[in-house]
Amino acid sequence: MADAPTHSKILILDFGSQYTQVIARRVRECQVYSEIVRFDTPAAEIAALKPNGLILSGGPASVYDKGAPQIDPEIFLLGVPVLGICYGLMLMAHHLGGKVVFTGRREYGAGGLHIKNRSELFAGLGSQLDVWNSHGDEVTALPKGFRVVGTTEGCDFAAVEDPQRKLYGLQFHPEVVHTPRGKEILQNFVYHICHCAMDWTMGSFIEEACARVRKQVGADKVVLGLSGGVDSSVTAALLHKAIGDQLTCIFVNNGLLRAREEEIVQRVFGENFHVQLKYVDASERFLSKLRGVTDPEQKRKIIGNEFIRVFEDAIIDLAKTNGSPITDHKFRFLAQGTLYPDVIESVSIQGNPAQVIKSHHNVGGLPEKMHFELVEPLRQLFKDEVRQVGLQLGLPKEIVYRQPFPGPGLAVRILGEVTPERLSILREADTIVQSEMEAADWYYKVWQSFAVLLPVQSVGVMGDQRTYENTVVLRIVESQDGMTADWVRVPYELLARISGRISNEVKGVNRVCYDISSKPPSTIEWE
Ligand code: XMP
Repeated sequence: MADAPTHSKILILDFGSQYTQVIARRVRECQVYSEIVRFDTPAAEIAALKPNGLILSGGPASVYDKGAPQIDPEIFLLGVPVLGICYGLMLMAHHLGGKVVFTGRREYGAGGLHIKNRSELFAGLGSQLDVWNSHGDEVTALPKGFRVVGTTEGCDFAAVEDPQRKLYGLQFHPEVVHTPRGKEILQNFVYHICHCAMDWTMGSFIEEACARVRKQVGADKVVLGLSGGVDSSVTAALLHKAIGDQLTCIFVNNGLLRAREEEIVQRVFGENFHVQLKYVDASERFLSKLRGVTDPEQKRKIIGNEFIRVFEDAIIDLAKTNGSPITDHKFRFLAQGTLYPDVIESVSIQGNPAQVIKSHHNVGGLPEKMHFELVEPLRQLFKDEVRQVGLQLGLPKEIVYRQPFPGPGLAVRILGEVTPERLSILREADTIVQSEMEAADWYYKVWQSFAVLLPVQSVGVMGDQRTYENTVVLRIVESQDGMTADWVRVPYELLARISGRISNEVKGVNRVCYDISSKPPSTIEWE
C-alpha cells in the first residue's frame, strides 16, 4: 500500500485471529501507523516495507496442525523487533528452538499475570496485571536466549523475551479491553522498543491523501456517487479539498430516502462546500419498477440495477451538457468510499463469508462496464478515523456521526409493496423516531434506530371510532460492525413517547411494537 516513507510503521502479520483488526486499531490509537499483511509475507518483502516493528497476531490453529499458517522464519533475522501474541508466540518459540505442546488445558478468560523479571515491555506497569487469555497450546521450553518475564496461574511462560534480539512474546491478549493495561504494554512496544514516532494523525493523513490523489488524478476528472452516508460524504469532502472542481458528485434520489434527506445533502455539499453536485431525482423510475413487487431479494436487485442505470445516464448527461465546466472531458476516475476493513478482507486468511444472506447494494459493477479507474482515498482508514477526518474537513456532526442507512433505503423497511402512500407513512414515523432519539440523547449512542412498516392491519379505537390500520415496528439496536447486534434496552418512557407520537400523529397507524430480536438469529433490517 502506498504510504509516505517518512512514517513510523508497525506491520501486523495476520494468522486469522478475530482480534487482528483490534491490534491494528490499538496501534493507531498510539498515533502510529499500522498495516495488516498476510501471515506468509516473505521476509524480503517485509524488509522492503521498512517497518519499525512486527506484531504476530493470534490465530485459531495449533502450530502442529496440518496446514497451520506458517511464517517465513527469516523474519526473526531482520533485526526488527517482534511481538508475538498467543499463536504468534507459539510460532516464535517453535521456529527458534523452543517447545510448544497442546496441554489439553484450555486457558480461557480473565487471569492474573505476575511479573517476575524487569522488562521494557512492562515498564511502569507494576508486578501484577489483569490479563485476558484465550489459548490451547502452551510454550513448555524457551528457545535459547529467551527468559521468562511473567507467569499466570496456568502458564509458566505467559510473557517472555529475548531483549538482545528484541523478540517478545505474550500468551495473553494485550489488545482486548479485558486486559485493562494492555494499551500501555503496546505503547511500551511501539514507543520504547520499536522507537516509533507519534506521526499518524488525521491532520497529516489529510495532507498526504490530498497529495496522493492529486498525483493519481493529474488534470483528469473524478465522479463520485454521493449517498449522504459517512463514507461517501467524507470521500467527497476530502476529494473536494484535493482537486476542487475536478470532482463531480452525483446524488441520486431513488424515492426511498428518509424525509428531507435530499435537502440535507444539497445544503451541506452544494451550499456549504460548493461541490459540483448533480442532483438526480429518479424517484419515479424506481417506484414504477417496484410497483407490485413484494419479494425482498427482488426489491434489492431491482434497486441495485436501477441505481447503476441511473448513475450511468447521469454521467452521460454530464458529459453532454453544454456550457458546463465539465463538457470537455469524460470522467476517467470513479471515487469510492472503500475503508480499510474491506481491504483487509482480501489480504487476511479469513476471507469473505461464504453465504449471501442479503445482496447488498453498491456501485461495484460500474468500473468494469464504464472503464473507470478507482480513486479510494479512505482505503487506509478505520471507521473511527474516517469520522475524525470528516470533522477536521468541516463536515457537520449530523453527517459524520449519522447512523448507517441501507442502499435500498426505506424499501427494505416497508414489508410488502412499496407505494407512495406507504412511503409517506414510514417517513413520518421515521422522523418521529429520529427526533425523539435525539431529544433523549440516545441517537448517537446506538448503532441504528428506525421504524419499519408491516403489511399487517389490526383493530384499534380512536375516540369512539373503531379503526383498522397499519402496524409500525420500532427497531433500535446496538452493534460494533453490523455483523451481530442486540436490541437496546432504552427507557420505557422513551418508548412510550415514540409510540404515543406515532399513533397520534401518523395517519394510518394505530399500533406500535418494539422489536426485541438480536442478530443472529434475526437481521437488523427486516428485509
Ligand atoms: P442486516 O439487515 O444485514 O444489516 O443485519 C446489517 C447492516 O447493514 C446495513 N444494510 C445495508 N447497507 N446496503 C448498505 O449499504 C444494503 O443493501 C444494506 N442492507 C443492510 C443495515 O442497515 C445494517 O446496518
